[in-house]
Amino acid sequence: MIKIIWPNPSKEDYDLASKYGYTPQLIARWRMLIGDEVKDLVEAIEKYRRVFIRVNTLKISPKKLKRRLEEEGFLLRETFLEYAFEVLRSPYALSSSKEHLLGYFYIQDLSSIIPPLLLDPKPHESILDLAAAPGGKTTHIAQITEGKAKIVAVDISRKRMASMRSNVNRLGISNIIMIRADGRKIVSYGVKFDKVLLDAPCTGEGVIPRDHSRKTIRLKEYESRVRLQRDLLRVAYEILKPGGLLVYSTCTYSPEENEENIKFAIEELNMELMDDWPIYDFRPSNGYNMKGVWRAYTHRQNTLGAFYAVLRKPE
Ligand SMILES: C[S@@+](CC[C@H](N)C(=O)[O-])C[C@H]1O[C@@H](n2cnc3c(N)ncnc32)[C@H](O)[C@@H]1O
Repeated sequence: MIKIIWPNPSKEDYDLASKYGYTPQLIARWRMLIGDEVKDLVEAIEKYRRVFIRVNTLKISPKKLKRRLEEEGFLLRETFLEYAFEVLRSPYALSSSKEHLLGYFYIQDLSSIIPPLLLDPKPHESILDLAAAPGGKTTHIAQITEGKAKIVAVDISRKRMASMRSNVNRLGISNIIMIRADGRKIVSYGVKFDKVLLDAPCTGEGVIPRDHSRKTIRLKEYESRVRLQRDLLRVAYEILKPGGLLVYSTCTYSPEENEENIKFAIEELNMELMDDWPIYDFRPSNGYNMKGVWRAYTHRQNTLGAFYAVLRKPE
């Protein structure tokens, strides 16, 4: 039984919600997570404009790309990752630059660059991306493994899969097998993987700066997302080799889609939580009432909102 906490909003919740067009319940739910910091979170979300690019090191070095874009009038700033930059000034749309068309970079928030780093993929491994389109993280995995890993990317959406194909082609990657399918049905293919990324379909509270429709998520949507996420978690477990690694990520703050799902994976699927945070230069926040899982909040990490956990299937 999936239970979504749906608190009674306070007067402060109503006031903050109506000022920025959120449902009062969403504000009340965030207050439950971070107390009065909710005001800072909402204000940071309303102001968030940061843009990042991940350099496609399969095609160009970070140094060369920075020089080329700066000659065009873009201004780039280094991040903790030598192949990701923040774009501080754009004389025109980044996506219409020659360098973008040539596949030299992918526009991606810093929070989305994290999951493939947690997966730590190796060139000899087989890797499944279970909700892959439009391919931001799959193509990053291909890049880390220098185009040598066996990568399978699955997504249910025809439209998003079309964007994924165009991204994969643009970035010049050939070692990704793309399958448009319902991830819940792929266990029957009978293949097993060393690692799985489940960047789960979620309510998207963390991407409100890019999608204002997420300010008014309904209770039913939370319930249906959690149901789907648990089905996909079961598939991830089934399809992993013993000892295999699962990275679970979302772009939402909702604890039912995050910590509660990790509890489900530990208690019902018997998976083991790998609780060390391995990325030295990016400090996430702790989970909500749970250790060893990680959150990015817009007002704290200064990125879009995200959740991360790493699990291992027992030998
Ligand atoms: C958060 S997005 C993935 C973003 C992607 N990982 C990236 O970095 O570009 C979640 C994806 O899950 C897909 N999805 C939803 N239901 C699915 C299902 N039953 N099986 C596979 N994919 C599904 C959606 O189409 C959506 O593309």
